[in-house]
Amino acid sequence: MKTIIEPFRIKSIEPIRMTTREERRELLAAAHYNLFGLKSEDVLIDLLTDSGTSAMSARQWSAVMLGDESYAGSPSFTRFEAAVRNLMPFRHIIPTHQGRAAEAILFHLLGGPGRKVPSNTHFDTTRGNIEATGAEAFDLVIPEGRDPQALHPFKGNMDVARLAEFLAEHGEDVPCVMLTVTNNAGGGQPVSLENIHEVAGLAHRCGKPFIIDGCRFAENAWFIKTREPGQGERSVTEIVREMFAEADGMTMSAKKDAFANIGGWLALNDDALAERARTRLIQTEGFPTYGGLAGRDLDAIAQGLTEIVDEAYLAYRIRTNEYIGERLMAMGIPVVRPTGGHAVFVDARAWLDHIPPLQYPGQTLACALYEFGGVRTCEIGTVMFGRSPDGTEHPATMDLVRLAMPRRVYTQSHADYVVETFGELAERKEKLPGYRIAWEPSAMRHFTARFAPIQ
Ligand SMILES: Cc1ncc(COP(=O)(O)O)c(C=O)c1O
Repeated sequence: MKTIIEPFRIKSIEPIRMTTREERRELLAAAHYNLFGLKSEDVLIDLLTDSGTSAMSARQWSAVMLGDESYAGSPSFTRFEAAVRNLMPFRHIIPTHQGRAAEAILFHLLGGPGRKVPSNTHFDTTRGNIEATGAEAFDLVIPEGRDPQALHPFKGNMDVARLAEFLAEHGEDVPCVMLTVTNNAGGGQPVSLENIHEVAGLAHRCGKPFIIDGCRFAENAWFIKTREPGQGERSVTEIVREMFAEADGMTMSAKKDAFANIGGWLALNDDALAERARTRLIQTEGFPTYGGLAGRDLDAIAQGLTEIVDEAYLAYRIRTNEYIGERLMAMGIPVVRPTGGHAVFVDARAWLDHIPPLQYPGQTLACALYEFGGVRTCEIGTVMFGRSPDGTEHPATMDLVRLAMPRRVYTQSHADYVVETFGELAERKEKLPGYRIAWEPSAMRHFTARFAPIQ
């Protein structure tokens, strides 16, 4: 069969409140043209993020009812630990309330002034947690990973030659080597098994622990299965186990590839480091058998981990973004290629070339997608990255709009609707206005800045 169907039936639904373009124009103005300011019930299709937005399965909801809320020694923790260890055989598995809490604990222990932490690309909370300790974060992705149009099957790969030079130069100051799978900040691009082995080998030859940020591990494993020579016949579970076999630890947001609405973990093999991590956990998150989560969350994650490696699900998941990407490209709309695991990134600067970067073409496109179709997306460009700490403003490297796909939430007709919204815009894109910032906070301005269209 040619059509890859959603491999699930829908038993419980959330209604979408239909709105008109006129209503949305007013709602947008009332939110000061910042899509984070909208109420979610005023959004038709919400592609703001894939984090924590998954639809849980009937089995996950049943598992929620089995959650044991004992402060210490809950069987929910035992089930959670076993489910993680089934895929990632670490000695110590430490639950946290979400991914960034795992990062904060890890870098509380490994960071500090003068320390330098390389990765393919650090996610912004990882970078934030490293920098908060006075350490520095370095992104050493392969050159293709920085070029939106470069066609490479594993654009998330670490540049191993640069990592070797980096370790030769800064060896003493490097507390660990990290790798983010898939590379979210680089467009949801995967890392090959070969690259994972090379990075692990190099880190170990230099005496450094190798830590994986595994948020989208299952999507990464699917890309390995379908793109890496010799991997096609292996199961995703086998590939996942091999991805983590040489790692000394991992950070994880269960809000992504565990189908949970909240949760995360830090895993480690080093007994002494794990002991210190648990002590910090007790100070900041909670007792080691719940770590900032309810027992029911631990059970939802445990069940979610058995479902995320389902290959019919992963085939549908990756195909959804590929499909949207292909249809947009057929309309002449520039997208980051190949499409990533969890999102489609549209090159707004290239498509809306009448709007200069400092008038925020990504913001223009995101606002127009909402006004015309009720579709909420996220600007990843000059609004997000353009303000420097010294107060000056510069265009970001790219002005992208991210269409992040929540897991198991939308169907193909929703995808078609999103593509049609782009079609509507294509007819009038030259008339879309740029924006100026009317007010912005001192940091992280994309969340709360107020905009005004330039008439
Ligand atoms: C690659 C990556 N690492 C870490 C995080 C942080 O996870 P959380 O949002 O659960 O704190 C995210 C979240 O988007 C992510 O994409």
